[in-house]
Parts: sequence; C-alpha cells; structure tokens
Amino acid sequence: MTEQQRQLTTRQGHPVYDNQSQRTVGERGPATLENYHFLEKISHFDRERIPERVVHARGFVAHGTFEAYGTIGDEPASTYTRAKLFAEKGKQTPVTIRFSTVIGGRDSSEVARDPRGFAVKLKTEDGNWDLVGNNLPVFFIRDAIKFPDVIHALKPDPVTFRQEPNRIFDFMSMTPESMHMLSWLFSPRGIPKGFRFMDGFGVNTYKMVNAEGEAVLVKYHWKTKQGIESLTQEQADAIQATELGSASKDIFEAIERGDHPQWELCVQIMSDDEHPELDFDPLDDTKTWPEDT
Ligand code: HEM
Repeated sequence: MTEQQRQLTTRQGHPVYDNQSQRTVGERGPATLENYHFLEKISHFDRERIPERVVHARGFVAHGTFEAYGTIGDEPASTYTRAKLFAEKGKQTPVTIRFSTVIGGRDSSEVARDPRGFAVKLKTEDGNWDLVGNNLPVFFIRDAIKFPDVIHALKPDPVTFRQEPNRIFDFMSMTPESMHMLSWLFSPRGIPKGFRFMDGFGVNTYKMVNAEGEAVLVKYHWKTKQGIESLTQEQADAIQATELGSASKDIFEAIERGDHPQWELCVQIMSDDEHPELDFDPLDDTKTWPEDT
C-alpha cells in the first residue's frame, strides 16, 4: 500500500489532519462547530448499528451473470426494448440476487410458510436496473397504503409474540383481493425447498420502451432451471427443528461445488392500451395474466 492510500480521509476524500483531537476556543474552551471531521466521525459512530429490515430481514446474496438471447419470442429484443442488456445474443451483464423470507427476523427459519423475496440487480452499462420480485406471481394487496396493515397482521402479535392466525385471517377476510396470494401461500408451493428451486416473479406490470418510444406492458418471470421443488409442512417442521438456514446452506454449497443455479428470464407482453376483453385490470398486481392468450 502506498503512503497516499494509507491516509485517513473524510467521506469526501479529504485527508484527515487530526483524528484524535478537536479545535477548542482557547486552551479549556468549548469545541467549535467547525470540527467537520469530529461531526462526521460521531455521526458515523451513531449509525454503525444497521437496524434489521422491517420485512425481508433474513436474506442471502449471490452474484452471477445475465446472458441475453438477443430475441424476445421470435422478434429481435429491440422490437420491444432499447435496454442494451437484452440487445445482442450472448451479451453478458453482471447480476446480483438477494433471496429472502419476508416476515421472520434475521435469525428466523428459512423453511417458513412465507413468500420468498427474489430481488435482482442487473449492473448494466447504463446503470443499475433493479427488478424486485417474489417467488409467487401475485401480491396480497393492490393499494400500497395497506402494506403496513398486511405486514402487521402477518408479524408476531406484540402481546403474545407469536404469529396469530386470527390476526392474519382478520386482515385477509376483510381484503378479498388478498385471497389469490393466500391460496398460493397455502398451496403445495407455499414452502420452497430452497432458493434454487423456485421461480421469481416481478409481480408488478412494467413497460418496455423501444428506440422509437413505443411501449408495451410486460410481466417478468424468472423460471428456475432446477425445477420447482417444495416442502410439505411435515418436512419443513423436521428441518427447522435443527436447522434455520437450510435454504442459504443449500445454495451456498451448490455454488461452492460449481453447480451454479440458473433461471431463464421470460416475459408476458400486452399492448399498452385499453383491454375491454379482459375481466381484470392488467395493472392489478393481485391478478396473473393468462398464458393462453
Ligand atoms: C405494495 C407495496 C409494497 C411496499 C410498501 C413494500 C415495502 C417494502 C419494504 C419497506 C421493504 C424493506 C426495504 C429495506 O428495509 O431494505 C421491502 C423489501 C422487499 N420487497 Fe417490498 N413492498 C411492497 C410490495 C412488494 C412486492 C409486490 C414485491 C414483489 C415483487 C416486493 C418484494 C420485496 C423484496 C424482494 C424485498 C427485499 C429486497 C432485498 O432483498 O433487498 N415488495 N418492501
């Protein structure tokens, strides 16, 4: 390391002249507010404990590569989008994925009956593109103002500190649009065997825009090439009796032995106009788009 690299600097990169004493007014006077480095050092210190996320606290990050087909269906990708990462066959873009559970805290079980987060960050030449996702194709709520309420219903009761079915079903029964996601959660796919064995869904409806400024509506789906595998409640109970981090362990060990998991990015596309033929709003995140039209 050179002398220059060893120099302690402020956040802006200015060399720190003195890290151990402040300027005061006279020998015994008060410290002055011009002590910029002192304020920065203390504000860093005050914030060095990063609080746990309110949702998706237990997560696991993996890095990889996104490789483009250059086409979407039978068309060149440029028909639909000017995003460069899709443009050429074989083009590679670094990708980071954070898998997570939602409701439990940082040290909770990874085989809970709970949605799984599937948050993708693609580091494109034009900047980072975040495509946040879950392993289920719909969401509990349509209006984001209900988010604290649905999460509070699913979180442990503040009195008993246990997940209480009454709180969950109280909210869900008053929120009919949540029934679709609830059905997925209590379906055989409700407890993924591990992060490698689940799909990821963008859930929300996005737009692709081509170089001419023409837009289409799009839903993004990451399809697992490992196949979907899930656990029964009994299997999950047996695992979490002795192991809370089974999903992280599974993907970590797979990558360590060179068995790299893969997903294929698939899209559903719809024209960006009125759709009187549909009995639902294609922008509604509690509905799936039919795959047969
Ligand atoms: C409807 C309104 C929603 C609200 C208000 C909301 C809010 C939040 C909040 C506050 C966090 C924690 C952020 C942090 O502390 O770092 C979070 C994380 C997350 N949310 Fe949502 N969310 C919503 C819907 C969704 C939907 C529809 C999906 C799936 C597509 C989703 C997937 C995720 C994921 C995967 C994370 C974790 C991200 C990571 O791993 O870094 N959320 N959300």
